[in-house]
Amino acid sequence: MEKKIKYVIDIKKLNKTFIDKKKEKVLALINVNLQIPKGSLFGLLGLNGAGKSTIINILAGLCLKNSGTVKINNYDIDTNRKQASCQIGIVPQELNFDPFFTPSEILEVQAGLYGIKKKNRKTKKILQDLDLYSKANSYTRSLSGGMKRRLMIAKALVHDPLILVLDEPTAGVDVNLRRQLWKYINKLKSKGKTILLTTHYIEEAEKLCDRVCFVSKGKIVLSETKKKIMKEFKQKKLEDIFIKFTKS
Ligand SMILES: Nc1ncnc2c1ncn2[C@@H]1O[C@H](COP(=O)(O)OP(=O)(O)O)[C@@H](O)[C@H]1O
Ligand SMILES: [Mg+2]
Repeated sequence: MEKKIKYVIDIKKLNKTFIDKKKEKVLALINVNLQIPKGSLFGLLGLNGAGKSTIINILAGLCLKNSGTVKINNYDIDTNRKQASCQIGIVPQELNFDPFFTPSEILEVQAGLYGIKKKNRKTKKILQDLDLYSKANSYTRSLSGGMKRRLMIAKALVHDPLILVLDEPTAGVDVNLRRQLWKYINKLKSKGKTILLTTHYIEEAEKLCDRVCFVSKGKIVLSETKKKIMKEFKQKKLEDIFIKFTKS
């Protein structure tokens, strides 16, 4: 029988150093430990430059770590990169599709990249779930901002990953679109996906997440359930607690 896994993302002693343009060392991640329980809506919070995207990029295989272990649904990224990647769908911050492709084509190409056979693809279902089906065959350049963001999510879901990772899903979007995206994120959680999102809008995490983790200058300074944090620190706003933990 398959062993039940408590943490679908399990990161231990993760370190990453970059060399900047002046040939100086940037310690982007310092001994990061991060455990994300299955089914949670987990917020990785930090100011710009804290190290959030570096964590995501290591999970996505876009960035090589210096040391530490990273397991995704118990697959170690060093020894089982391919299986680890199949467990996770990444929604990057920037739009990354060709404006002259249609949503349907984009999902088909992405499914092809994952080696999903035509008969097993769920293009129609995914587009319906994200309210994009009426635009299935339109050029993506003609979609609204909200639709484009939803298409990014759709693209990350083609291989039906256990975990969906969204890097700053609402950065630079207006308030209506933000609410709309929250609705979709909640819908995915209710369908059993584990969701990891990064944000520098603390208010967003306070509304959405059940667990939060504060990242400051490459270190994890707090990781707890939101309930426990709010109870323990007795402040009205998560933002005030965040500031307390991350000020230099
Ligand atoms: N490719 C890179 N080369 C050099 N420095 C980088 C690179 N990527 C990120 N950094 C640095 O690493 C730190 C963490 O960056 P990042 O993970 O992007 O932060 P966040 O996503 O929290 O805003 C920052 O100091 C950033 O300048
Ligand atoms: Mg970032």
